[in-house]
Amino acid sequence: KMKLAVLTSGGDSAGMNAVVRAIVKIGILRGCETWIVREGYEGLVRGNTQAHAIHADLPADASALKCAHRGVPTNLTRNLRFGDGDLLRDGTGDHHHGRTLKGRYIVRVGWDDVRGWFAEGGTLIGTARSAAFRTSEGRLSAAHNLIKEGIDALAVCGGDGSLTGADLFRSEWPSLVSQLLTQGMITEEQAEKHGHLKIVGLVGSIDNDMSMTDLTIGAPTALHRICEAIDNINSTAASHSRAFVLEVMGRHCGWLALLAGVSSGADFIFIPERPPQTIPGGTWEDDMCEAIRGHREAGKRKTIVIVAEGAHDADLQPIRAEYVKEVLTERLGLDTRVTTLGHTQRGGRPCAFDRILPTLQGEEAVKALLEATPDTPSYMIGVRENKITRVPLMEAADAIGAKDFTKAMSMRDPEFYQSLEGFFA
Ligand code: F6P
Repeated sequence: KMKLAVLTSGGDSAGMNAVVRAIVKIGILRGCETWIVREGYEGLVRGNTQAHAIHADLPADASALKCAHRGVPTNLTRNLRFGDGDLLRDGTGDHHHGRTLKGRYIVRVGWDDVRGWFAEGGTLIGTARSAAFRTSEGRLSAAHNLIKEGIDALAVCGGDGSLTGADLFRSEWPSLVSQLLTQGMITEEQAEKHGHLKIVGLVGSIDNDMSMTDLTIGAPTALHRICEAIDNINSTAASHSRAFVLEVMGRHCGWLALLAGVSSGADFIFIPERPPQTIPGGTWEDDMCEAIRGHREAGKRKTIVIVAEGAHDADLQPIRAEYVKEVLTERLGLDTRVTTLGHTQRGGRPCAFDRILPTLQGEEAVKALLEATPDTPSYMIGVRENKITRVPLMEAADAIGAKDFTKAMSMRDPEFYQSLEGFFA
């Protein structure tokens, strides 16, 4: 029986709970024993220092608890709500329904534990950007903790950094196991049984910045959130005939800014992939002002400029929303405000597609793990041209290293940008 654990890592994104739900439910349906790891890789490194505290009143064979109509284990943790407290912050442990999860980061879960999770924002099992997992001692401890619980398959949902971490962990696994054996931390029998870690990656990130997949989980919801915010700003902007400069997230990727611009009728956008063009004999400031002046002369009562947080000019100098505001105020005399949408873009309920995509990808992820052998590569689950795909994790991680985003992402294809040439003018 495959013992399958799922964790979420890096910045949260809408749809991560739907991933956990899908992995757990589909895992159970396919006969796996299902576990969650709290607080991302950090939880893997910390492991369980308190043995089975939350299972204390369950029968020895927890799978004896069956959900009558499905014949699957249920209620292992009595619907614990992970992530309500902040274990990493105060270290005192969370109390959920009178039980403590203190000292337990790797927890067995059943069907009911993830019921309804697809509609919840953020990640209920917690996430972290773990410094400890970046060290070889941290990864050794993570391997030890998995082996101690008998877990042989791991599904990781996170962004580029998290999946690069997963790939490293997978490649180091045989050496980690032999180190643990040499140090007497695991038995010969455990080393033999855990000679191979099955691992799969699902891409959760609002930035849509992963190579070899068209869309990352959480990006559609964040885009939707930005569009709603711009719709709201539009009405107040038009009332006062004002200009607004909006800074949106995306780290080094302009996907959110570009698509928000297209779907909300922005006047001008700044994205890292396409630094603003200088017009002959002029500057990008002249170019922007000319475009916006034209829109105003054509009767527009509002101006919306979107700045991706990673936007820069041709000399790689960052373009800041406050600076754009100054230019609009001073050169065009526009009453201008800056709005930084910040984490409102990341939190909140997932839109329908961020429930569908994780569910379909979760199914493929469990399938990939069940089919994995020591000779097959570990996979990243993606989506290309509306089909759920598997890509060797190593290739995807290499493409991240090479910053080769354009390779497979039609939205980031230079031709896509060219096709929008003049669109905002
Ligand atoms: O990668 C997701 C993301 O939201 C980026 O868009 C942003 O640059 C970053 O995370 C913000 O990180 P933090 O939540 O740690 O401030």
